[in-house]
Amino acid sequence: MYSDIVMDHFANPRNAGVIEDADGVGEVGNPVCGDMMTFYIKVKDNRLEDVKFQTFGCVAAIAVSSMVSEMAKGQNLEDAQKITNKSVAATLGGLPQNKMHCSNLGAEALALAIKSYQEKQRKTPSASAA
Ligand code: FES
Repeated sequence: MYSDIVMDHFANPRNAGVIEDADGVGEVGNPVCGDMMTFYIKVKDNRLEDVKFQTFGCVAAIAVSSMVSEMAKGQNLEDAQKITNKSVAATLGGLPQNKMHCSNLGAEALALAIKSYQEKQRKTPSASAA
């Protein structure tokens, strides 16, 4: 049912954890399955210097979080915002149709974390030195 890549990221999630002094945090939940995902980002010179996540969810949700964090790390904010549920699912070697919603959570949580960083920047532009 799941690709080897999915199973690998589920068994050995990359970048799992919390960034205590994160520059941006994005949290999403799916009301249907009850799964939750939170992304934490550190930004330096418009790049995602660090990305971590906490996920309470299914196999696909954990694999998606891990893959999104790998795809996003080191990217500039514009490119990271282009990560979509489809690109994550494709990089994972595909997801079963009934698990595609799990990939939405990852792309959304990352996008929200970037948005929260950008909103903070607008309010306190001097904080952009980080
Ligand atoms: S079943 Fe809900 S995120 Fe996978």
